[in-house]
Amino acid sequence: MVQIRMRKLFFIYIVISTVSFIWFYSSCGFPECKEKEIEHLIKKYKARNKELDKKISDLSQQLQECQKNVLTSGRTEFSHSPTIYMVTPTHTHPEQKANLVRLSHTLLHVKNIHWIVIEDSVSKTVLVSKFLQNSGVKNTHLAALTPHEIKMKYNDPTWLKPKGVLQRNAALRWIRENLNPNTDNGVVYFADDDNTYSLEIFQEMRNTKKATVWPVGLVGGLRYEKPIVKDGKVTGWFTYWKPNRPFPMDMAGFAVNVNLFFNNPDARFSNEVPRGFLESTILEQLNVKMEDLEPRAENCSKVLVWHTRTEKTKLKNEQLMIKRQGQGSDPNIEV
Ligand SMILES: *[C@@H]1O[C@H](CO)[C@@H](O)[C@H](O)[C@H]1NC(C)=O
Repeated sequence: MVQIRMRKLFFIYIVISTVSFIWFYSSCGFPECKEKEIEHLIKKYKARNKELDKKISDLSQQLQECQKNVLTSGRTEFSHSPTIYMVTPTHTHPEQKANLVRLSHTLLHVKNIHWIVIEDSVSKTVLVSKFLQNSGVKNTHLAALTPHEIKMKYNDPTWLKPKGVLQRNAALRWIRENLNPNTDNGVVYFADDDNTYSLEIFQEMRNTKKATVWPVGLVGGLRYEKPIVKDGKVTGWFTYWKPNRPFPMDMAGFAVNVNLFFNNPDARFSNEVPRGFLESTILEQLNVKMEDLEPRAENCSKVLVWHTRTEKTKLKNEQLMIKRQGQGSDPNIEV
């Protein structure tokens, strides 16, 4: 009896062991089974990879959108960056439009700039009006005529009399009448239309507390004129011509915070000052002191603006043409 029982138990034991053994090896013990498992893992990670790739491509598309927005908004308003009010006098002469076109192309690369262009004429001319409308640069167009007695002739040497005095003053009047000293945060830069401006100079001046200064290239009979800077402070000037002026530098070599024009409401340019004193007198009237000057362009070690000039074109063949053919060039073609 006991023997039969033992045999039965043994038999059950054998059956269970065999079934367990088969089940165990069929699920993952055999080599082919391991391969299947690895294949499964590879599939899983491939799917994961695909998901991540898609995420990366979505994010880079979003980044591209953002970059596009930054580029286009740079053309219009950047509410927290101070506006540069760039004051440019201009007068009718053969090279006028060429100068303005060239300068406008620089300004198209500068964000938050407001170009104040003032013509030396009784009223705004068609040429400058049309040009500014199509320039793509935010602008204000003004006109202020220089009285005949103080006006320079086309062939006078350029240093003979102060230039652009009434025009710059018209811009200052516009600034005082149209900007709000409490909300319009900005910088004023007096910039002639024949100079050459690197884009960096606009970055350098944008955050001006009182008055920023930097070197100017090709001016004063030197390769450059510049403030001398020691320990981050302006201590003097590298200038040959009239070095004893209070601020012996070119108009293109400084910018001032627009607030100074509100704090000093009578400050203006004058035709009465000696040659070379326009810059000094306006800065003195704005109550700027040597110790206020904020050196820019790496402590005034880099030239980022050049006092270039446009050559006066000889147009003598216009007269000869009239003599030869009875008429010169067509005045309806704007140059
Ligand atoms: C200018 O000079 C000062 C003092 O030597 C220095 O601390 C500062 O970093 C300099 N600035 C630049 C932009 O080189």
